[in-house]
Amino acid sequence: MDIERDLHMAEGEGDWSYSSNSRRQEIVIRETKPMIENAIKEVYTALLPKTLIIADLGCSAAQNTLIFISNVIRVIADQNKCSGDGHVEVQFFLNDLPGNDFNELFRLIQNFKRLGTTDEMAHVPPLYYILGLPDSYYNRLFPCESVHLFHSSYCLHWRSQQPEGLEAWRETYLNEDNIYITKTTTPAVVKKYQELFYKDFSLFLKLRYEELVYGGQMVLILCGRKDEDVYNGYLNQLFGLVARSLQNLVLKGLVEKKKVESFNLPVYGPSVVEVKDVVMESHLFKMDHIKLIETNWDPFDDSEGDEVKNSACSSTNITKLIRSLLKSLVVCHFGETILEPLFKEFTYLVAKHLEKEKTKAAIIAMSLKKE
Ligand SMILES: C[S@@+](CC[C@H](N)C(=O)[O-])C[C@H]1O[C@@H](n2cnc3c(N)ncnc32)[C@H](O)[C@@H]1O
Repeated sequence: MDIERDLHMAEGEGDWSYSSNSRRQEIVIRETKPMIENAIKEVYTALLPKTLIIADLGCSAAQNTLIFISNVIRVIADQNKCSGDGHVEVQFFLNDLPGNDFNELFRLIQNFKRLGTTDEMAHVPPLYYILGLPDSYYNRLFPCESVHLFHSSYCLHWRSQQPEGLEAWRETYLNEDNIYITKTTTPAVVKKYQELFYKDFSLFLKLRYEELVYGGQMVLILCGRKDEDVYNGYLNQLFGLVARSLQNLVLKGLVEKKKVESFNLPVYGPSVVEVKDVVMESHLFKMDHIKLIETNWDPFDDSEGDEVKNSACSSTNITKLIRSLLKSLVVCHFGETILEPLFKEFTYLVAKHLEKEKTKAAIIAMSLKKE
């Protein structure tokens, strides 16, 4: 599996697309709006640039990146009014891996521009330009000290590759039939995941530090873990259920056991402490804020409380979301024909899980400043 080549969210606008199943991410972007507003205001008033350079890293091809763009435009319009300077222009770079559906993204952008962003705005918006930037953010993307603000939402839990060295000898695999860290994952395998997270996130910070101007900021949002126990996070539970679905397909003779054993997801959900440790050890950024946001697994369930009202409906919604995230990697490793039976098993197991408990997703949001 080559992540740079093979990973992308499910394309298009259909029922199973990422675009139709990214409501939870949208809610979190709205919830982190004050963090973004604050970062833009600070950068703008401190540096007074003629052109603001802003990048959304891991933008995918859905409305969420446009919500981010319209938030930025609105804040700049307000700032222009306050400072009496109406000439600032904004250059947006929308970055994702080359397999991302950039065609769909630019179709959405054309609509967005046609509808205009000024309707609900009290002040005249700045001129803005949008460019696509297909590459991995684990590479250098911009010239030195050229960017004012980086935003990245729901991305940095994705690793740059599968953890190395999980194959022992003669095709025996250290993580057996798990696909992420699950109860039976050994501490040695957990360490490989943690080391990869440390290496990737440190590299990401170093690269962005080089690209940011002094006074520039980053707002980063990623899936994480509430509990310090590395086995006890919502990604462990969710991907544990995907692994059990695959194991059931092995029992039914639909998938080879070795195929499941050689499949490990390139993700890691860190705790707030783990994130802080990497930022502190890098000695590059001042961490202005960090917080943990909890949301329901079901992207369409906004209810409070500990009970899932309709576990059949919620499990379908969760399946659509997880399928839109994992489809490209699953198809690449197992082939297209596995999709239907795999996610049918998964829906069933998620419904059973939700009948017992309403598990919450844990999202980490932070803002970092280069001083
Ligand atoms: C769940 S989507 C989030 C999309 C959008 N930011 C949102 O909030 O809806 C995660 C995105 O991160 C992208 N991604 C993962 N690893 C990446 C990398 N190394 N470089 C660039 N993009 C990456 C994926 O391709 C995917 O589009």
